[in-house]
Amino acid sequence: MRKRIPVTSLLAAVTLGLSTLGLAAGAGTAAATPPAPAHDKQGLSDVIPAPVEAEADPEADFWLSPFTHIRTERGSAEAREVGKYLASTLRPATGYPLPVTSAKHSFLPSISLELGRTDPRVGDQGYQLDVTKRGVTIKANTADGLFSGVQTLRQLLPAQIAADSPQPRIWTVPGGNILDYPRFGYRGAMLDLARHFHEPDEIKAYIDQIAAYKINYLHLHLTDDQGWRIQIDSWPELTKKSGGPGTGVDGEGPGFLTKAEYAELNAYAASRHITIIPEIDMPGHTNAAQHAYAELNCDGVAVPPRTDIEVGYSSLCIDSEITYTFVEDVIRELAEMTPGPYLHIGGDEAHATTDEDYRKFMDRVMPMVAKYGKTIYGWDEIMQVDPPTSAIGQFWDTDGQDADVAEAVARGNKIVLSPANKAYLDMKYDESTPIGLSWAGYVEVRDAYDWNPGNHVQDVPESGVLGVEAPLWSETLRTLDHIEYMAFPRLPAIAELGWSTEASHDWESFRQRLGAQAPRWEQQGINFYRSPQVDWQ
Ligand code: ACM
Repeated sequence: MRKRIPVTSLLAAVTLGLSTLGLAAGAGTAAATPPAPAHDKQGLSDVIPAPVEAEADPEADFWLSPFTHIRTERGSAEAREVGKYLASTLRPATGYPLPVTSAKHSFLPSISLELGRTDPRVGDQGYQLDVTKRGVTIKANTADGLFSGVQTLRQLLPAQIAADSPQPRIWTVPGGNILDYPRFGYRGAMLDLARHFHEPDEIKAYIDQIAAYKINYLHLHLTDDQGWRIQIDSWPELTKKSGGPGTGVDGEGPGFLTKAEYAELNAYAASRHITIIPEIDMPGHTNAAQHAYAELNCDGVAVPPRTDIEVGYSSLCIDSEITYTFVEDVIRELAEMTPGPYLHIGGDEAHATTDEDYRKFMDRVMPMVAKYGKTIYGWDEIMQVDPPTSAIGQFWDTDGQDADVAEAVARGNKIVLSPANKAYLDMKYDESTPIGLSWAGYVEVRDAYDWNPGNHVQDVPESGVLGVEAPLWSETLRTLDHIEYMAFPRLPAIAELGWSTEASHDWESFRQRLGAQAPRWEQQGINFYRSPQVDWQ
């Protein structure tokens, strides 16, 4: 039997560590303020999304110390990147050096990120996390799985781990074992850059926030009636006329992503194991394009810019050849700059396009997506035109039924669930919410949590569901503060529906775990809504 290290000698090690590291403020505070007691620790299951299996061992707690190393699988650059990411998230609050090594053996306490030798259930996104007194081991089959394990480990540490400067305290990881893997492979969030542009730094901040809850796709709604937010070299007036000053709802929210910025966002998202999905909405929601180019209108006259929030009035000119030259140029350039597999072509609310024209348009455009190597993705309306079975439909209806969607799924198509009355993060929480819309009703935290993606759509079995996504439309949003206020705490609810088992679904458990997230959000300065349905810590 190994001897248990007495807490007093650990305190000495921690204090010594802080002062040997020369952390002026940290060392001073450490000497003046006794660290928080060791019993102030997380439970092994106090994690969002809830892990599949967690077996606590109170005798096996691990303490991070100035001597802790992060060891990553030898020969794996990807595992090393996850290790470096983990170190970057733990260093500010601990003040510890946490070197990242690939040494095979070490007598020093360590957090090990290992590839292979997993339980078969782990699959390509799951992980196992084992905590003993000697260290933490995260095992997975892929770097995605390691990254998910790292997010769990961050939540197992006390909330002050999210602080941006050294905190004098003991960093306990609760002992035991977790085996965890997702219910659905696709767990998404969406930002609307068209109604109000969000700067790359704001998008990166949101990427970090959603990655913490194991979201693995970020859908960017890049074009709409009010603005065009992505550089397209072959059609430069798109961003010149519809991405500049005066564009956006109420004429506020100008801007667009250059190709360089878009590439950097894709790389940043990849470093957080998130895939970006770009959306060009068509054949409706196209006023910005038709304002920039007169030839995209059937009468050859450019339409005026629009800054209101009406929908359903615009349509590309279906019988004009230039329309398809335009669409193919945009799809080609977008496919070239997008590393991920999906290209979202919108297709929603094309009320100014006849059903016949809608089909004609989609029959020409859908093959273009495949031609440039991408998978077709669109709002659920695309299921009306019998798309190829590889096409993904995004269900956004509020009544849980759609015969076209059910028939498409019966043929083999898959859908992503974003029912507006559950998963739209721009719906107000209640009548007093200062921003947001309410056309799909008010969506309190419990509404966002209490539904089952596996049986939500009539005649669509769970096998037809790729996953869930939480869209956040920006008609009423301007800032990152606004994004955070609408996303937190509902984004973690949708994240849990996408990851955790149906059997673990339990509002009481979820609201307890959600309440415990508040100190983390406060440390990070996240502007969250204090729902009265939750006891916030
Ligand atoms: C949508 O909300 N129009 C997809």
